[in-house]
Amino acid sequence: MQTRLLLVDDEAAQRELLAGYLSKKQFDIHTAGSGEEALDQYHDHFAPVAIVDMKMTGMSGLELLARLREINPFIQAIVLTAFGSVETAVAAMKAGAFDYLTKPVEDLDELLLKLNKAVEQNRLVVQHKIMSERLAESFAGSEMIGESSGINDVRELISLVAPKEATVLITGPSGTGKELVARAIHALSPRAPESLVAINCAAFPETLLESELFGYEKGAFTGADRAKQGRFELADHGTLFLDEVGEMPLTMQVKLLRVLEERKIQRLGSVKEIPLDIRIIAATNRDLPTLVKEGKFREDLFYRLNVITIDLPPLRDRGGDILLLAAKFLERFSRKVGKEITGIDPEAAGILSGYNWPGNVRELENIIERAVILTRANQITGADLSGLSGPLSETTLSGKIAPIADIEKEHIKFCLDRLDWNIGLTAEKLGIHRNTLRTKIKEYNLTRQTQ
Ligand SMILES: Nc1ncnc2c1ncn2[C@@H]1O[C@H](COP(=O)(O)OP(=O)(O)OP(=O)(O)O)[C@@H](O)[C@H]1O
Ligand SMILES: [Mg+2]
Repeated sequence: MQTRLLLVDDEAAQRELLAGYLSKKQFDIHTAGSGEEALDQYHDHFAPVAIVDMKMTGMSGLELLARLREINPFIQAIVLTAFGSVETAVAAMKAGAFDYLTKPVEDLDELLLKLNKAVEQNRLVVQHKIMSERLAESFAGSEMIGESSGINDVRELISLVAPKEATVLITGPSGTGKELVARAIHALSPRAPESLVAINCAAFPETLLESELFGYEKGAFTGADRAKQGRFELADHGTLFLDEVGEMPLTMQVKLLRVLEERKIQRLGSVKEIPLDIRIIAATNRDLPTLVKEGKFREDLFYRLNVITIDLPPLRDRGGDILLLAAKFLERFSRKVGKEITGIDPEAAGILSGYNWPGNVRELENIIERAVILTRANQITGADLSGLSGPLSETTLSGKIAPIADIEKEHIKFCLDRLDWNIGLTAEKLGIHRNTLRTKIKEYNLTRQTQ
């Protein structure tokens, strides 16, 4: 198999010498006489390895190296420096060059040796990246917790749709696990070895969203000083996750619909059509049919996306899952902060089960993390959950609200102690008759503290 190699040098003689030698050694060589020319070509051949002369007229080798690494962070470059210019070699290595050679290159075997190492290094870093992503994905896939019928239905749907190519729309309130489901579908699909590329449609203003999705050619707009692949292209052969699709502006919806129908795109500033093989998963916490009625979401796009819908139930409808999830989060966070916390006491369990969880699983995760940090006991107690607002259940109230009599008793005792048990003065300050005060002292069994 041939490896693509980018060879940049402004001296034609040196270029031809190297190209002539290396083309016999399993390299598919793309030459350029300047940094500008190299960048121009680069997005068309995307070579994993490069030989770059440091001293060129126009763009310097160092700058070119930086630009190439922006486009392809895995590129491994061997730089050519003038004999004796150690500084340049050091700067190039700092900027991420893989190795260097001094010019003129006479020992071609040494060059070949270094190039082969660079190819191997490229293979390793790319492999490492793929592995770590795959690990993260499979982890997410296996981590769906819950035994409620709602979550079991979701699990069943995931395993049904994952092997298919169909577009999936995931709906449900904020924090219910929509992204988790999207990752699980991808991880269980035949596309799992390829990437899952996510984009949050709400996170970009309209024009940026378009260039993020479609990519652009150099010079497509002011500031586009190099070509960039969009997320559609990056997701080729894999899955594209369109998060918060309900927030997509109408003009972008039209463009997305076209891509879904034609399965090809053009980068901004280009007429070249790039065919796409992608699977789409979309998610939203908005009610799309309502948005359609209000004219904020295109009906045709809605039907395109809504081939299969997975609707996530709010956490409060998942019964026992609340405590299952809480136990899992407890385990995770106590390991993280290094505390040995063995469980959740009955009062705390009552509070968690009775709360209505407007922020769903994400809120539960946050509450448990905070409780683990706060608690001084080896269990999570009701007091560690004091931040939970919203309607309180009866179990939550008991033990938390003091009866009036307790407060009255404490208050009278406090005043008497402050006023040195002067009955007349204390009664006056409390706004009651001194006889009433005497009765209360007896009733509450108050006695003067003698120090
Ligand atoms: N069933 C579950 N088991 C374990 N963890 C879960 C589950 N559901 C959600 N989570 C966790 O809760 C958090 C929120 O989930 P996620 O980001 O998938 O929700 P979302 O629906 O996409 O939220 P939003 O609408 O706010 O984007 C994540 O940390 C996720 O790992
Ligand atoms: Mg989300």
